[in-house]
Amino acid sequence: MREVKIKIDGREFTATEGMTILEAVRKAGYEVPTLCYHDGLSPHGGCRLCVVEVKGSPRLLTSCTTPVADGMEVFVNTDRVKEARKFVMNLIMTERNHFCMFCEKSGRYEETDCELQKRAYEVQIEHFPFPVYVDKYPVDTSSPVMVTDHNRCILCGRCVRVCSEIVANSTLDFSFRGSKTLIAADTGLNKGESSCISCGACMQVCPAGAIFSKFGGYKGKKSLCEKVETFCPICGVGCETTNYVRYNNIVEIEGAGLAKRTLDGGQLCEKGRYGPIMESRNRISIPLIRDAKGRFVEATYGEAVNKVVQLLKANSPDQIAFRASSFLPAEDLAYIKGFASKLGVEDIDTFDGDVYRNLSSFSGSKATYEDLLNADLILLVGGDIIKEHGVVGSYIRRAVRNKGAELMVISSMESKIERWAKEVKRIAEGSEGSVAVEYKEKISAASNPVIVLEGAGLLRNKEAIEPWLRLAEELSVKVMALAPTGNSLAAWELGVAPVSSNTLGKPKKLLFLFLGDIDSSYAPAEIAEIGYETVVLHSAYIDAMMKLSDVVLPGKSWLENEGTYKLLNGEVRKFTNILNAEDNAKSPREFLSDLANAMGLGTIDVSSLVSKL
Ligand code: SF4
Ligand code: SF4
Ligand code: SF4
Ligand code: FES
Repeated sequence: MREVKIKIDGREFTATEGMTILEAVRKAGYEVPTLCYHDGLSPHGGCRLCVVEVKGSPRLLTSCTTPVADGMEVFVNTDRVKEARKFVMNLIMTERNHFCMFCEKSGRYEETDCELQKRAYEVQIEHFPFPVYVDKYPVDTSSPVMVTDHNRCILCGRCVRVCSEIVANSTLDFSFRGSKTLIAADTGLNKGESSCISCGACMQVCPAGAIFSKFGGYKGKKSLCEKVETFCPICGVGCETTNYVRYNNIVEIEGAGLAKRTLDGGQLCEKGRYGPIMESRNRISIPLIRDAKGRFVEATYGEAVNKVVQLLKANSPDQIAFRASSFLPAEDLAYIKGFASKLGVEDIDTFDGDVYRNLSSFSGSKATYEDLLNADLILLVGGDIIKEHGVVGSYIRRAVRNKGAELMVISSMESKIERWAKEVKRIAEGSEGSVAVEYKEKISAASNPVIVLEGAGLLRNKEAIEPWLRLAEELSVKVMALAPTGNSLAAWELGVAPVSSNTLGKPKKLLFLFLGDIDSSYAPAEIAEIGYETVVLHSAYIDAMMKLSDVVLPGKSWLENEGTYKLLNGEVRKFTNILNAEDNAKSPREFLSDLANAMGLGTIDVSSLVSKL
């Protein structure tokens, strides 16, 4: 792109041809207020707050939509410009209900969470000079995660654009005309009944109090919160997050740099944005030991460690089994493996070890996210991608919408991805493999086909995925296997999930369960069938498995437990803990290190293992 020379308030700068005035002005270090504009979204030019004077133009121009030209002279802060911006803000503030004192987002200039209010402070609006037009507009509370209050909407269209351009779900649009204009879901449904996937991107970009979280109320302004920048480790996609924390509670989670980043656009899915805030299970807060009458009694941490030492000494290595959640950080997984090795215990696995055991026979190529974006045929087999790996769902929608890819869904369950599908085959869970051969011709005719195998239910089932893997090998089709939890790949590579399951599942006397955050109902039935006599449970949350446990230890939740994750795309990332750990809560590695010390097992070094990931 050619460089052009422009003047801003009399000073000369260079800009790149194709840039808007706003981009050039901001690059030069000047500020121009905006409302409908959002970095990374297409410019809308609707609010006119960003107007500037350009020499030779009789009209003020919207800087967010006007491209720079060589020799252009721009004035960003003249009296005429300031007056025009104040007029624009007055019009916006007097249309619909912007009585800020009744709004959750309202605050002093430094504190407000509302961009609209902030801009109003900046242009020094002290009162409403025009009659306020307060008609009644609907308030839509039907979404499980957010409220849309049309009374506070300024019709900037950011939500419409983010839903279409980044999330690629195209749920929102303007409907009706003039003062009746509303942002509508699927041209007139309540959000909760619409195609909305509750990703919350529209909520994040809304500059007013029109879309807000159902879970943020009375927790405090984001400006009062500590900001923790990290990523979401839930499903292995690893979306970047900004977490707003106050009094060790998460007030809100945002996609970091929403709309600015190229591939995922900084999106989050419902699980990543709202899941940690909606968590309502009770924590295990103190160690418990079952007494001779079978009742739990509270114990000190030291007493619980001593009890576990006794249990370990009373059982030979072949009578002991370890099971761990593959959502734990690699340091924990490696420590569990190292500790078991020191004891000579071979029966160790994760709850989804079968996933990579089943995939290990695949000799074909793995699909990347870019492959998905460029695919002309996508076969989506298995679970609900919107619920399991929501952001990957947006790549599929982009391929369908932007590249005309054909989507074929083969699944036992309904999913909101299906509205983008050319064909949906509803099939009993577990029998997905039986129909693979039916797609052979279709795949052969495609140029860039990709097979996506989604979720735990499918990937743990060898019979269901084998035919797809063999078909992919035969036809040289790339496969994307979306493993169920955040660190399944690390668990596999660290050998916590072993290659051979021969040693697994034999009757054992002592079972160690490291649940972390997961619910034991997620663990395969095999856990309940091992035939153990004694269970040591290490878990963040009160769980049904406690009924069958003999010693219970409070674990850290993933939000409190920093460590390493290997994402589905092979990238290794260090997760920063978002919250401080609850009293008594320890990570598996902290607990096992204390146990190793108490047993005189010496140091267990996991850093070399983790660094090889
Ligand atoms: S939550 Fe996501 S899918 Fe739903 S309307 Fe907003 S941006 Fe679109
Ligand atoms: S709901 Fe928010 S983002 Fe959408 S048009 Fe209204 S003010 Fe803008
Ligand atoms: S797609 Fe996965 S990593 Fe991204 S926000 Fe959702 S759960 Fe978290
Ligand atoms: S920010 Fe430029 S017109 Fe709204």
